[in-house]
Amino acid sequence: MQITSFKQYEEDFKKSVDNPEQFWGEVAQNFQWRKPWFKVLSWNFNEPNIKWFEGAKLNITENCLDRHLEKNGDKPAIIWEPNNPEEESVTYTYKMLHERVCRFANVLKRNGAKKGDRICIYMPMVPELAIAVLACARIGAVHSVIFGGFSAKSIADRINDSQCKLVITADGAYRGNKQIPLKDVIDDALIGCPTVEKCIVLTHVRTPVSMLKGRDVWWEDEVKHVNDICEAEEMDAEDMLFILYTSGSTGKPKGVVHTCGGYMVYAGYTFSNVFNYQPGEVYFCTADIGWITGHSYIVYGPLSQGATSVLFEGIPTYPSPSRFWDIVEKHKVNTLYTAPTAIRSLMSFGDEPLNGKDLSSIRVLGSVGEPINEEAWHWFDEKIGHGKAPIVDTWWQTETGGIMISPIATVTPTKPSYATLPLPGIQPILVDENGKEIEGNGVSGNLCIKFPWPGMLRTTYGDHERCKQTYFSTYENLYFTGDGCLRDEDGYYRITGRVDDVLNVSGHRIGTAEVENAINMHAGVVESAVVGYPHDVKGQGIYAFVINPEMHGEEELTKKDILQTVTRVIGAIAKPDKILFVAGLPKTRSGKIMRRILRKIAEGDTANLGDTSTLLDPAVVDQIIEASKALK
Ligand code: WT7
Repeated sequence: MQITSFKQYEEDFKKSVDNPEQFWGEVAQNFQWRKPWFKVLSWNFNEPNIKWFEGAKLNITENCLDRHLEKNGDKPAIIWEPNNPEEESVTYTYKMLHERVCRFANVLKRNGAKKGDRICIYMPMVPELAIAVLACARIGAVHSVIFGGFSAKSIADRINDSQCKLVITADGAYRGNKQIPLKDVIDDALIGCPTVEKCIVLTHVRTPVSMLKGRDVWWEDEVKHVNDICEAEEMDAEDMLFILYTSGSTGKPKGVVHTCGGYMVYAGYTFSNVFNYQPGEVYFCTADIGWITGHSYIVYGPLSQGATSVLFEGIPTYPSPSRFWDIVEKHKVNTLYTAPTAIRSLMSFGDEPLNGKDLSSIRVLGSVGEPINEEAWHWFDEKIGHGKAPIVDTWWQTETGGIMISPIATVTPTKPSYATLPLPGIQPILVDENGKEIEGNGVSGNLCIKFPWPGMLRTTYGDHERCKQTYFSTYENLYFTGDGCLRDEDGYYRITGRVDDVLNVSGHRIGTAEVENAINMHAGVVESAVVGYPHDVKGQGIYAFVINPEMHGEEELTKKDILQTVTRVIGAIAKPDKILFVAGLPKTRSGKIMRRILRKIAEGDTANLGDTSTLLDPAVVDQIIEASKALK
C-alpha cells in the first residue's frame, strides 16, 4: 500500500476516483479483519449517511498491537520522553504495550465499563494516556480525550454532552516548569456531572489529591487486581471508536464522531504514505494526544503500521529551546512532525540552540495545524532538514480523521507554504459563494470535498442535524471544510485559512463565539466581539473588543479579571492577547456586528475600512480606532 513513485501516485489517484470501492477495498486488505465487508461504501451527503466496509468486524487494537507481536513483539512501539530531561526515557515494546493495554482494559471492565460506554480521558502526555486510549478501544468503549489545557467547565460540558460513565485522569501534569493539577480540575468538573460513576487516577507528579470514596480509585491499585489477558471486543466497522470535541462558529463545541473501520484504514494508510515510513525508523510527532493529530499520528496511525512513535511530555522550550533537537539526537529521530507555531517560536531563538546538535538522522519533516509561512518553511528546511528532508505540509481537520492534502515524502514534490496535492481517494473542489465549482488553475475559493473518504466524520455526537448543518448544508452534495484555498497554475493547493468565525491560535482551533460567551460571563461586561489578528508566533492572536464594564477605575485589573474568567470558562488556551475597552461596537441597523471592520482595526489597517455607511452609528468606528492606537 506504500506509494513509491510519482507515476504510481498518479495511477493510484486516478483509480481512487474512477473506482473508489476497488481502491479502498484493496487498501483495506492490508489490515486485519475478523470478518470481511459485504460493501465497501454506501453514502449520501444529504442526510449525511456514510458507511465504509459495511458488515466488516474488527478491533483496531488487534491491528495496532496483536498483529505485530509474533514478528515485532520486541520492537519499540512507544518511546516516552519525559518533561524533565534528567529523568530516564521509557521504551515500551509492542509486547509490553499489549500487556499494559490488556491489563488496563480489564481495569476498565472491573470498574463497570462496557462496549459503547463513553469514557473521558484527561491526562498528561505519558504512556498511560496511550494505554488508556487503546484500552477503551480494546473493550469497545468510546473514548473522549480532552486536552489538558481545558477548564473544569469545558470538561463538564463535554462529559455531559456525551454522558461519560468513567473518567481517567492523573494527579497532575508537568508542562515545562509548571505543574497542572489535573485531578483538582476534574474534581471541580465532576460536581456537575451526574453520569460519572468512577474516576481512575494515575499517580504522576505526586501532588496531594482528594480521593472520593466510592468514586475515585488509583490506577496503580487497580492494575494489581486484574490479569493481562483481555480478548478484544469484536466491533462493527461502523461502531463508534471515539468522540473528539472541536470548536466551530457557534458557542458550543461539537463532538466529532469517528468509527472503527474507516478511521483505522485511513489513519494507517496516510501515515504509511505521507511520511514514507520505513520499518525500524523512529517517528516523532510533537502534538498532544488531546488533539486529532495525536489520535491519528501518535497512536493509531503509527501503531497500526508497527512503527516506533516518540511520545513527548514536555514543551519545545523547556528546559531550553534546544529540547526538540536534543530529543532528535538522543532517539535518532527519522521523522519530525510538528506545528508552524513551534517552528516559528524556535526560529526566534536564532541558531544558537542548534549548535553542536546532531540532526543527521532526520529524513522527513512534517508540518500541521495552520498555514506555514515561507520564512518558517525555509528555516525548517535548511536548519533542521539541511535541505535534504522533504517537508510534508499536511492539511486536514479533526473532522477528516487523517491527512487529506499533502506531499508524499520522497514521492511527490513539495512547495513552500503549499499543502500541494490531494492524497489518493481525496477529491477536493473549490467553490464560489454560491456553491458553483471554480474550475481550472490559478483560482481561489472555498475548499470542499466532493466524495467520501474512509476517515471522515460520521456525525456529531447526540446531534446529527448539527453535523448536517455545519458540514453538508452550505453547499449541496459537498462536505464544506470552512477553509479558503488557492489552486495555483500547477494545480497545487495552498490553504489560506478559515473563512468562518473560527480562529487558529498556535494550531488550536477556537471559536470566536465561544470566547465572546466566556468574556460576557464576566460581571459587568455588556457585550464583546472577538476577532483574530496576525501574530508572529501564534499565527493568529485573539483580539477582544469589550464594551466598558464597571471598572472601578482599575482598567488593568479588570482586564486581568476578564482573562481569569476566560481561563475558568474555557481554559488558558483561549485567553485574549489584547483587550480593548470600547463604548460601542460597529453594528448594522439589524444589529449584526460588522466583524470585517473590527478585523481591520485589529490588524492595524484602518486606512481602508471599506463601506461603513450601513452602520447604525458610524461614529463608534472612529472612537474604536482612537482607543486602539493607545493599546500596545
Ligand atoms: C484547521 C483544522 C489537522 C490537525 C490539526 C488541526 C487548519 C490544519 C493545515 C495546514 C493550513 C491548516 C485549517 C483546518 N489547518 N492543517 N497544513 N495548512 N491550514 O486540526 O483543530 O481540526 O483544525 O486547521 O484551517 O480547517 P483542527
